[in-house]
Amino acid sequence: MFAIESEELSKVYRNGIFRRQEVAALTGFSIQVAPGQIFSLLGPNGAGKTTFIKMLLSLASPTSGSASILGQKLPDVRVREKVGYLPENHRYPGYLTGDQVLRYFGELGGAPPGAMRGRIDSLLGLVGLTQWRTMKVKKYSKGMLQRLGLAQALMNEPEILFLDEPTDGVDPVGRKEIREILKDLRQKGKTIFLNSHLLSEVELISDRVAVLDRGRLLKVGTVDEMTAAGQAYVIGIGGTLPESVALAARAFVMGLTQQGENITAECRTTAELNRVIDLLRANNVEITSVIRQRNTLEESFISLIAKEARK
Ligand SMILES: Nc1ncnc2c1ncn2[C@@H]1O[C@H](COP(=O)(O)OP(=O)(O)OP(=O)(O)O)[C@@H](O)[C@H]1O
Ligand SMILES: [Mg+2]
Repeated sequence: MFAIESEELSKVYRNGIFRRQEVAALTGFSIQVAPGQIFSLLGPNGAGKTTFIKMLLSLASPTSGSASILGQKLPDVRVREKVGYLPENHRYPGYLTGDQVLRYFGELGGAPPGAMRGRIDSLLGLVGLTQWRTMKVKKYSKGMLQRLGLAQALMNEPEILFLDEPTDGVDPVGRKEIREILKDLRQKGKTIFLNSHLLSEVELISDRVAVLDRGRLLKVGTVDEMTAAGQAYVIGIGGTLPESVALAARAFVMGLTQQGENITAECRTTAELNRVIDLLRANNVEITSVIRQRNTLEESFISLIAKEARK
């Protein structure tokens, strides 16, 4: 059973006079998320990421297609008992304290009164807000609000967490802390569904990634699969590379450039890389290091979206 599954899910919003203006927010979107994974949905602004989460939570109704959560076919509001949700741009009433926000959401979600205090305490500790618990949230910084939002999403011990841009406005140290919390939750068996455009971050924690653009799924796979296209190796050498050796290498590799004591060789296979190394050694070039360079998810993402825009 999948934690989350969607099949040909589509959403068309109708706006304006006589609802004549149509926006295809999501088109034929099918994905499967295994339990216990961190799954990230990536896409530029307006791609349809939030729309997808809203349909899964029955906050928006699909125009066509179907979806299920933990095997329960949607729409089914009972599913909400098993999910936690951190919406994007959430606003808590400013006159409540952090403590009261969690109590409020705990009560809404039906947390047992006896367990409330303990749960609030441990979640405030988890997100590092214990010392700010009695401060009104109108005085909270953006980062503090996001942490509180994460605690709120966990208040009813969900099996699946939906986090829409959870690190929006959080500084790098805070982002790292949130990543650690998410990894820890994964270890405890939770499924985490993340919407983000912070690619550098997503690639550090996601088991799988889907790229969405203008409502359409462009690609889905592991971070490695998404970024495996380029096979560039940086070979550190002692001294300079004789031009004749560079020429000989260029005859069989995709590309070879030199910058100071570093050679960047673009190879199709590791056999090709070894041939370059053999060639260097045969010409008495000293090798000091070999590093496999990887495309970052950011580069793959930009080239994927750019390719789509050219279509
Ligand atoms: N309630 C709505 N009524 C009409 N159109 C909507 C509504 N909600 C979203 N849209 C439109 O649907 C498209 C997808 O929006 P959505 O919010 O899902 O994108 P997103 O990927 O979450 O973007 P962002 O990264 O900016 O949060 C956009 O063109 C948006 O204008
Ligand atoms: Mg959004």
